[in-house]
Amino acid sequence: MYARIIGTGSYLPENVVTNADLEQKVDTSDEWIRSRTGIRERRVAAPGETTGDLAVHACRKALEAADIDPASIDMLIVGTTTPDVVFPSTACLIQQRLGLGECGAFDVNAACSGFIFALSIASQYIQTGACKRVLVVGAETLTRILDWGDRSTCVLFGDGAGAVVLQADPEPGVLSTHIHANGAHANLLHVEVGVSKGFLPEERGGMSVKMKGNEVFKVAVNTLGRIVDETLAHNKMDKHDLDWLIPHQANLRIIKATARKLDMPMDRVIVTVDKHGNTSAASVPLALDEAIRSGRIKRGDNMLLEAFGGGFTWGSALIRY
Ligand code: ACO
Repeated sequence: MYARIIGTGSYLPENVVTNADLEQKVDTSDEWIRSRTGIRERRVAAPGETTGDLAVHACRKALEAADIDPASIDMLIVGTTTPDVVFPSTACLIQQRLGLGECGAFDVNAACSGFIFALSIASQYIQTGACKRVLVVGAETLTRILDWGDRSTCVLFGDGAGAVVLQADPEPGVLSTHIHANGAHANLLHVEVGVSKGFLPEERGGMSVKMKGNEVFKVAVNTLGRIVDETLAHNKMDKHDLDWLIPHQANLRIIKATARKLDMPMDRVIVTVDKHGNTSAASVPLALDEAIRSGRIKRGDNMLLEAFGGGFTWGSALIRY
């Protein structure tokens, strides 16, 4: 049995924040942001609009596209680092709103790799026959944990959600998933406060993303190069067998480096970072949904999904659509 994608959906908050808007807040420029990252604009959730709200919109669209009864879903997994509340999990909070019944529902925290980690779990449950249908979501409101006075991070992130419905099928499907983590350099990209450690007062930074961007950049390029090799070798595939690359949307230069390694022209790479910024766990399913709905990705195409994020965590999925 394989886990096959039978529906995708995504959602972006309405509020668009452009680079020009950020020029008013911090000492930055549209030129710097575009040339270093490829980002032109990002979405920011409205006050009161939560990760769960974004996820519900994306899931409803995915369920509609799959054309199935929501109650037939056996498991709901939400990849997120920005849950609505400490507990219940965001998955529990949205389960009833979606009419999913009493299926297993939980969150996965793997920062920007959250969707790939969730997809990997879902795929194992389907392959073993334990589940027939799993709803996998990546949803974030990263803008809630940004220091809007720190130009090195506040220009990079945005909010959004993406979802896929996976169903057991004898035809592929998810061919393989690969997940990794290494906490040795946790301090290069982190939120250094939390429930158990405690929170800092607002004047000392509150709760915000801290990143040594250029060091993360080097590790990301190197690590993504390695996981691409691992994924192809596992499937005894050549890079030229791939039809599409759907990368984590953190930085256009990182995306281009991975595409170069795969000898893949940029018209075979799904790029949304210009409009979405880095939406963390939502970035891959957002890009996937956009590419499927626009008709670019067709049934039978081979696509490589990859992500890298805080932890560090990284992962990939090779999928025949
Ligand atoms: N506007 C203008 N100047 C800026 C800005 C800004 N927004 N931000 C930083 N600068 C300045 C710096 O202060 C520095 O100035 P200095 O030379 O006078 O000290 C200069 O620009 C260069 O800074 P670098 O950090 O070296 O810039 P770099 O080219 O590395 O680009 C960036 C920074 C875009 C953050 C890049 O390093 C990057 O994309 N890193 C990887 C991010 C990533 O992949 N994260 C993983 C996922 S995120 C997650 O898991 C939550």
